[in-house]
Amino acid sequence: MSGELENLTFFVQTFGCQMNESDSERIAGILCRAGATKAARPEDSDLIIVNTCAVRKKAEEKLFSYIGRLAQIKKKKPVRVGVVGCVAQLRGLELLEKKYGMDFVLGPDNYAELPDILRKSPAEKHISTAWSAEWHETPSDLAIHESTVSAFVTVMEGCDNFCAYCVVPFTRGRQKYRPLPSIIREIEELSRKGFKEIQLLGQNVNSYRDPQSGGSFPDLLRATSRVEGIEWIRFLTSHPKNFTLEIAATMEGEKKICRQLHLPLQSGATSVLKRMRRSYTRKEYLEKIAFLRRLMPDISLSTDIIVGFPGESEKEFEESLAVLREVRFANIFSFRYSPRPLTRASELKDDVPLEEKGRRLAEVQALQKQIQLENHSRKVGSVIKVLCLGLAKRTPHLYSGRNEGYEVVNFLSQDDCIGTFINVRVTGFGPYSLYGERIPV
Ligand code: 5AD
Ligand code: SF4
Repeated sequence: MSGELENLTFFVQTFGCQMNESDSERIAGILCRAGATKAARPEDSDLIIVNTCAVRKKAEEKLFSYIGRLAQIKKKKPVRVGVVGCVAQLRGLELLEKKYGMDFVLGPDNYAELPDILRKSPAEKHISTAWSAEWHETPSDLAIHESTVSAFVTVMEGCDNFCAYCVVPFTRGRQKYRPLPSIIREIEELSRKGFKEIQLLGQNVNSYRDPQSGGSFPDLLRATSRVEGIEWIRFLTSHPKNFTLEIAATMEGEKKICRQLHLPLQSGATSVLKRMRRSYTRKEYLEKIAFLRRLMPDISLSTDIIVGFPGESEKEFEESLAVLREVRFANIFSFRYSPRPLTRASELKDDVPLEEKGRRLAEVQALQKQIQLENHSRKVGSVIKVLCLGLAKRTPHLYSGRNEGYEVVNFLSQDDCIGTFINVRVTGFGPYSLYGERIPV
């Protein structure tokens, strides 16, 4: 490759969602293509890039505590530090000030500038946070993937929904779509490299439109299904308002599309949903779930819940609990509401006290834990198909993978089976994973 950054070693620290993970893989690709080398630890590198998340206050705070760690490293050796991602977009110049001492700041639409910035003198501070209105094409084989089995493929960026609590439309900008031929080219390349699973990514993935042909999200799903070698296809994130019956029918009709869906509910109370500007009611949400289950009785569903949105009464909160009891999701992600800059909800009084938010969160999580234990206990003794993704992080004598429903399955196997589909007999479980042993196919 061009080799201008040959002597540079770098480390990327990622906070936040799958979109950030995917962007970090692309950033690593851009740097390696320019000749730099990836280091295993920040202490071993000349350049540290922090890819940040602003979606909740707690996520943003992670950057600020990481900056403390960076200050320690900076004391020992000269190292250039760049902040990228959503906090970079939101806080911009502030991060370059002496208080934080960052060397450069790049918003999510500006990563292609990295090699140029690094060629300049380290003394020169830099900021780029301009949004582009159009999709910026980067070479499809550029990303350096963390996994060799399952890959994220970004199909759109940005969000036009402006849910009242959400900062994403202000960090990622307006929706823009990647041309369908470019998406398929990347998936074909991933298939040639041996990847078995693809996760199509977008903040509002169901509203995908091919900018050239006008093709819809179901068209994208069908085109992805035709790529040989890719066996499981997932997509996220879906907005209930854009999740159409046609998408459900496409999932049902295409064998490779996993019977699994993440459909963020946020609140079980129609009144709260209205204040959140979510554009659907509790009843409409439940009708979509009922339709999905009629079509695919074994579909695995997960969701997001926010507790303590401004004005959320005890009764409204209980409506969220009631939906959890009714739907019995396979998994949920639950959060305490925190006001975010520029959002409509930040103008409302954040009137649910912190301890009360904590109590509601604990109640949601205890209920869901119970549901997951019950769901998992029914699987003991059954044989499930698992895509092996690697070794289990905390128990490396076990392999780890996921089933079609995206549940974590840790299991014993005599042979290395990473990257293959295998059968596992379930022998045990916890609330967040299943355990088992590999059996012959
Ligand atoms: N406070 C709490 N949770 C939030 N989320 C988004 N914005 C906020 C906020 N201000 C949650 C939503 C979303 C997930 C990615 O993060 O549940 O679906
Ligand atoms: Fe945020 Fe709503 Fe867009 Fe999701 S759909 S990124 S919650 S504004």
